[in-house]
This record gives sequence, structure tokens and C-alpha cells, in this order.
Amino acid sequence: MAIVQLDPEVVAKIAAGEVIERPVSVVKELVENALDAGAKRVRVELVAGGCDLIRVADDGCGIAEEELVPAVQRHATSKIASLDDLGRIATLGFRGEALASIAAVSEMAITSAVENGAAHTIRLLGGEVKSITPASRSRGTTVVVERIFFNLPARRKYLRSAASESSQSAQLLSHLAMAYPDVSFELLVDGRRTLFTPGSGDPMDAAVAVLGREVSAALMPVDATVQARSPGEGVAARVTGYVARPPVSRPTRSGIWLTVNRRPVRSRALVSAVEGGFEGLLMVGRHPIAVLDLQVPPWEVDVNVHPTKSEVRLLRERLIYGGMRDAVRAVVASDERWAQEVAGLGRVEHGSDPVDEPRLQLGDAEVGSHALARTADVVGSGRRIPILRLIGQVAQSYIVAEGEAGLYLIDQHAAHERVLLERLRRAMGREEQVQLLLEPAVVDLTAGQLELARAALGALEELGFRLEPFGESSILVRGVPAQLPQGMAVKALREAIEELVEERGILDWRERVAVALSCRSAVKAGQVLSHEEMRALVESLEEADITQHCSHGRPTAVLLSHTQLEREFGRR
Ligand SMILES: Nc1ncnc2c1ncn2[C@@H]1O[C@H](COP(=O)(O)OP(=O)(O)OP(=O)(O)O)[C@@H](O)[C@H]1O
Ligand SMILES: [Mg+2]
Repeated sequence: MAIVQLDPEVVAKIAAGEVIERPVSVVKELVENALDAGAKRVRVELVAGGCDLIRVADDGCGIAEEELVPAVQRHATSKIASLDDLGRIATLGFRGEALASIAAVSEMAITSAVENGAAHTIRLLGGEVKSITPASRSRGTTVVVERIFFNLPARRKYLRSAASESSQSAQLLSHLAMAYPDVSFELLVDGRRTLFTPGSGDPMDAAVAVLGREVSAALMPVDATVQARSPGEGVAARVTGYVARPPVSRPTRSGIWLTVNRRPVRSRALVSAVEGGFEGLLMVGRHPIAVLDLQVPPWEVDVNVHPTKSEVRLLRERLIYGGMRDAVRAVVASDERWAQEVAGLGRVEHGSDPVDEPRLQLGDAEVGSHALARTADVVGSGRRIPILRLIGQVAQSYIVAEGEAGLYLIDQHAAHERVLLERLRRAMGREEQVQLLLEPAVVDLTAGQLELARAALGALEELGFRLEPFGESSILVRGVPAQLPQGMAVKALREAIEELVEERGILDWRERVAVALSCRSAVKAGQVLSHEEMRALVESLEEADITQHCSHGRPTAVLLSHTQLEREFGRR
């Protein structure tokens, strides 16, 4: 085979593909440019998730007419000039690649004006400059990107649904908005405003806009320095931002928002440093909410390690990760109310928090959940469910049973989920746990779901699935985990993939898939159970070791002790 030098146009497209993977990559590059230009307002509009149109407008310094062509050329940048500069990058961009890459795969128009200058519009198609014409606008830049990947049909085919593409851009803008509270961000999706931050400079205002009032109310400030090992060297890093009190948590890691020098980063190590700070304080399967920025001297961080600049390398990695974990831990541990709850081991005391708590109706007397919290023990961790006498079911959701200590109310869904999860975990990787299907089932997936199923393939195999690609957009299920209830596994697989598809950056597929599967295949609340079914569930709970919480952190069982019952009825 002859080796030939590729046409520059082909080379440009290949390189563009590395930087621009999907609409969110375009949004990221354009918004970063706006921030580098000192913008105080950034407005992003998406049509069809950005697949049809992306418009980013800013009020930054603008691009002068004579700079418009260099701006869209590859390796043309105003941000660094020499190799030395690469070692101390203070801007988000530095490669002079983004605009050229976007231009190569779309139809692009940039309208820009500098202070007291006339505005001009440059139009490009597939990277080729088509025209430069006078325009009108005040200082700032508007970039319009249409028909992304029109000339890369293979790439276009891999775009997900408009909703999924917009949600990625929304996630990114939320992240940047919290890192830049002094900038006002606005996102319009098909004309609807879905995000707006005021740009007041107060990080709490940005957090409220992104996370909502309820979560923001649980945030505690973090501001700590990480000292260098040798005293003479001073401070190695500073960590600032917020973490949420542990009772407020998420089922995924999507609530961990990290930036390094205000650059959003994906970093398994930093995420686990944050989670390390919460160790022992969250239920199984729950993850913290944290908005944290790590400030390190620019020369101690290498941002040039990933084509989309979403990963960084830190010089004093170990030291900084340890410092980050300790900083988080110190804040979480200083929260007294929470510390007491943990010390009470399952005893729920909510202090004097009067927030919308459910109320328990007992005959004529209405007892607030404070009273319930005082009188009822959430079955404690490490405390196993004893042998129980089954009484019945209430509200088609709870199993009532009696044990030595008193009356047990068991959440049927949470308990079943917990049992299934334990079984899946225990059987993981064992061949005998695969149940081959007599007739393989076909599961149709979208391109995005298929991608995800591929990423999770190893985990799915370990859990007991036997899968094969089938046609362009389906998988064939030949085997399912024997641990899951008969006939539920295929449906659970489909639902688990749907549930997981919106989450990116999943770190532990095995665990996440196991949690999703057990939740999906467990009996639901509102389902009438026969005496035998309840008996079987209670028996498997008695056998299971962990009884306290389902994988979403709710209690599986509540115990009303004899003493508590006596007290309720005034016998004590
Ligand atoms: N919104 C904007 N406002 C002002 N100037 C801009 C804007 N967008 C781009 N520019 C100018 O165009 C140049 C090229 O932008 P481009 O994004 O391609 O490269 P970069 O930001 O320098 O590096 P990177 O490829 O890492 O993003 C920038 O260096 C900047 O001078
Ligand atoms: Mg840039």
C-alpha cells in the first residue's frame, strides 16, 4: 500500500474532529473565548440541541476587522506567543485551534466589534472564508455556528437526541456559571430560557441559579489552603467554594463540580479526593454535592494534556489531593448538627428544622415527623433484621412485621432493591450466575445508548449479562443475571441504560449498573404482594447483612420499639 501525504483539507478535518466532538464542544470553545475576552455577559442559544444552530454572543473586547481572518486560522492566537508562555497559561484558550476547528466542520459567521470600532461579519463554509462584510453591533462578538458536521456525515450520525445534546451544554454552562459568578450567563434552548445567572459576583447567587434554593441552603463555604511540605515553600494551593451538608446528596456524581484555576476539569483523582472528605458520612450509592475551585500557580498545572483541555496534570498531585480531601472533611465535620446525627447511628434527629416535613397521622392526634424521629429508630447500620413474624401490608407499600424489639415497618421497594443489590454484588463475575435465555431478546437502542452500552459492556458481563451487537442499533441479549427476578432482567437492562445515558463520566460502571438494575427490577411501591411474596422478601432481608438503607439512601425499615409504643400510648 502506498503511503500518501494527506490533503491539507483532510488533515484539518481530522484535527477538528479531536477538538469538536459534538455541539457541547462548540459551546465550550466559544464561551471560553468570550470569557478570555473579558465578557461580563454571555448568551448562548441552541436550536435542536445545537445540531442545527448555536449562537454565542458576548460583550467582551471584540475582534478588530483585520484580525478576523487570523482568528479563524489554525494556530493563530492572541493568548500566547512563545514556548515559555505555555508554561504559565492564565487564559482558557491558548492553542489558536478552536475557531479553525469549528469552522472546518460547519457553516460559521462571526460578527464582532472592538470599542469605538465598526462591526464586521466574516462568513465561512467548511473552513473556507466566503465573505467579510460591514455589520452593526456594539462592542463584543457573536458567533453563529450552523449545520455542525454537515461535511462529516459519519460524525453527524453519532449525535444524540436534541434533548441530550442540550443537556450537555446546559451542564457545561452551569459549571462555568458557578466558576465565573461575576459573569452573567443565559441559555436559551429552542427559544426557552433554561439558565440565567445574574453575574453579581456573589458565588451564592450563581449557585442558587444553578442548583436551586433548596440545595443552596445546605451549602457550607470552603476556603482552605494546602501547605507545601517544606515550610519555606509556603502555600501549594487554595481550595474555595461550597460543599453541601451530607443529608443533601445525589445518586450520581453529577453534583460534584470541580474547576482548576476556574477551568472545568474532569479528574477522577480530584473527585475521589472530594468523596474522601465525605467518607463514612453518606449512604451507600449516594454522592456529595460540591462546587469547588482549586487554585494553583499556572506553572504547576499542565493544561495541555487533552485535546479538549478537559483534563489537567498537577505538579504536586498527591499533596494537593490530600489537602483537598482534608479541606472538605474539615468543613463537613465542623457541621455540628450533622455530626450528632451520625453519632446517633441511625437515630434521626432533625433539630429544629421546620421544613416541609411529612406528617404522620395517628388517629386523631397529628404527630410531626419530629415526633416520629424521636420515637422511631431507623433500623441501625450493622444491626441486622431479626427473625420476624409477618403481619401484613399497608398502603401497598410497606410490610408490617413484628420482631423481638417491636414493630417493624419495611419499605418493600427499598428492601427488595437492597436484597437484589447485595446478591448481584456477591455473584459478580461468577459464571454460574449467568442464566442463558432460550430465546435471545433484541433490545433496540439509540446511538447514544448504544455508545453507553459499549462503555458498560465489561460491567454488564460481570454482572451476568451476555450481550452481542445486533445490526446497527440493537443488542442481542443471550444471557441475564440469575439473581434478577424472572422475566425482569431485559426490561431492567433497557431501563438502566436509559437512566444512565444522561450521566457522563461514570467512574464505577459495575456499581452504577448494579444499582440501576436492582432498583429497576425490585417490586414497586403500590404493588400488592401476596403473603408468600412478603414472606420471601422478609426472609431474604433477615439473611442480608446490611439493612439500613436502599441504594438511594432512604431507610429500608423503621422500628417502633415496645418502649416507644408504650410511650406513645401513655403507658410510660
Ligand atoms: N469572543 C471573542 N472575543 C474576542 N476575541 C476572540 C473571541 N473569540 C476568539 N477571539 C480571538 O480569536 C483568537 C482565536 O480563537 P481560538 O479559540 O481559535 O483560539 P484560542 O482561544 O487562542 O486557543 P484555543 O484553541 O485553545 O481555544 C483568540 O486568540 C482571540 O484573539
Ligand atoms: Mg479559544
